[in-house]
Amino acid sequence: MTATIDTQTTPPTTHAGILAWVTEVAELTQPDAIHWCTGSDEEWAQLTASLEATGTFTRLNADRMPNSFHAASDPTDVARVEDRTYICSVDERDAGPTNNWMDPEQMKDLMRGLYAGCMRGRTMYVIPFVMGHLDAEHPMFGIEVTDSAYVTVSMRVMARMGTDVLRRIEELETAGESPQWVPALHSVGMPLEPGQADVAWPCNDTKYIVQFPEERMIWSFGSGYGGNALLGKKCYALRIASVMARDEGWLAEHMLILKLTSPQGVTKYVAAAFPSACGKTNLAMLKPTIPGWTVEAIGDDIAWMRIGEDGRLWAVNPEFGFFGVAPGTNEHTNPHAMETIRKGNSVFTNVALTPDGDVWWEGLENTPAEATSWKGEPWTPDSGELSSHANSRYCTPIKQCSILADEYDDPRGVPIDAILFGGRRKTTIPLVTEARDWNHGTFMGATLSSETTAAAVGAVGVVRRDPMAMLPFIGYNAGDYFGHWVGIGKDNDAAKLPKIFYVNWFRRGDDGDFLWPGFGENSRVLKWVIERIDGQAAAVETPIGHVPAPGSLDIDGLDVTEEQLAQALAVDADEWRAELPQIQEWFEKFGDDLPAVLWSELDTLKARLDA
Ligand code: GDP
Ligand code: PGA
Ligand code: MN
Repeated sequence: MTATIDTQTTPPTTHAGILAWVTEVAELTQPDAIHWCTGSDEEWAQLTASLEATGTFTRLNADRMPNSFHAASDPTDVARVEDRTYICSVDERDAGPTNNWMDPEQMKDLMRGLYAGCMRGRTMYVIPFVMGHLDAEHPMFGIEVTDSAYVTVSMRVMARMGTDVLRRIEELETAGESPQWVPALHSVGMPLEPGQADVAWPCNDTKYIVQFPEERMIWSFGSGYGGNALLGKKCYALRIASVMARDEGWLAEHMLILKLTSPQGVTKYVAAAFPSACGKTNLAMLKPTIPGWTVEAIGDDIAWMRIGEDGRLWAVNPEFGFFGVAPGTNEHTNPHAMETIRKGNSVFTNVALTPDGDVWWEGLENTPAEATSWKGEPWTPDSGELSSHANSRYCTPIKQCSILADEYDDPRGVPIDAILFGGRRKTTIPLVTEARDWNHGTFMGATLSSETTAAAVGAVGVVRRDPMAMLPFIGYNAGDYFGHWVGIGKDNDAAKLPKIFYVNWFRRGDDGDFLWPGFGENSRVLKWVIERIDGQAAAVETPIGHVPAPGSLDIDGLDVTEEQLAQALAVDADEWRAELPQIQEWFEKFGDDLPAVLWSELDTLKARLDA
């Protein structure tokens, strides 16, 4: 296999807007060549071979992981960079108070300086992609231009991309529909001078991840990491899409989507928002431990939700792959993810490489006697260091998932019965709480708190408010975002909207261990949620909402003590009183932009705790 990529002198499209933008970017960034991506198998073979040639990829043992590759990033480029992420709205107020902001023209001047000549010595890849279905009523197109073959290969896994997408845009254009497409410019920011050898993971110490919400445009510079560089994912499908959703009356949320079927054959659809590295991918592919229940996956990270003609909230997963946290994934915690990735066609970043050409990470079975760590150093179980970065990832096609629900392919999506909010909290937050109504549920989401994880650069384990698990992804003023949530409740029939719950798999006992076994056992909580919706399970009213009544949570065959279970479910008024000033302080950040009903909810909580 040669390591050369076909590059075109004649672009394979006559679409004037796309041609003009690609030409403008090429003039600014000065690539050696331009490659328009087709999305074909041949292209994948060429790109992966070129990545092997530059040392970015190591091909894995085909008997273990066919057509799959290991990559190790620069040790400084391992996660999303929230302090380098900007919402450059025209008016600063529209980005505040949770986002970084800079005037869009000032940001463009600054970044044009960085982009000038930044692709010299490299190939520029043009990736036509669509988030969601190509045959959706209004397909959500994008064109990512990148100088990274790694990003191009990863985009092929994570999004529907290639020639079909370009043809569909042209077709709609010819039909006079002027389909919207999001220009998404990405560069690793490391031009090569003539004769200069490349490095395995080019990147730049200067990083900018920038959204221009009014123009529906994304500019990213300096990082090759997933959330910073695969621009269809967090940048488009959450930050830009949340702005579109505000304007058009729908929701773009950081949620998994799953289909749950009871032993009686009754089907329900659940969406759940947890911050990064707090359990979305695991819950999405859950293998229930309770007999007769089945879970099928629809999405593991992003849900686009619209009110349907029937008044229900319908959700689609706009993605095409899983970009999952590797450590902790194994045959017990997530057998369906393991089965999915073992089918191959996957990219593993910042995990360990074993001598027999397989990957390994902390928590996986069959610990190897020796391996090469993600840092490229010899590693043994006695090294006293992690073999894999805590935010190491697998990137694998969703279609390989054996429990993918058929509804995944339906552009209308699925009607959501329950929304779960959740995060990582050692204390305070019970295993499961049911909101009294939509506004109370919106309050739960707006005050969601979680310990920070390795998915973003910065301290780990620090409790912060992460509203609807969207803190790093709301593309506009978060006060307005809360108002948008309240508005969905006000403008629609409450009886048809999903019921809202709050879960916490991560509460710990005095010994520091998790009180709840989690993973497949979370099916017991899903069962209670469904039974609540159907009016079957009993609950106790507490100041923070409804929690399972004694005996209502199915613990048949569960390996936890009564004491652990009681602690996992407990609502401790003192712990909650300690939350109040934090919530107060959080709400004050939003000033007059905070919907008044959220202040009323806080007053209600205070009153109930005092009663
Ligand atoms: P995502 O980034 O939200 O999709 O989170 P993942 O599902 O990838 O999980 C992130 C980390 O949390 C992994 O290390 C998982 O093993 C761990 N995790 C997920 N679900 C649970 C659970 O129910 N209990 C515990 N203790 N850990 C979990
Ligand atoms: P996740 O997001 O941790 O929510 O899966 C991936 C990312 O941060 O890029
Ligand atoms: Mn995930």
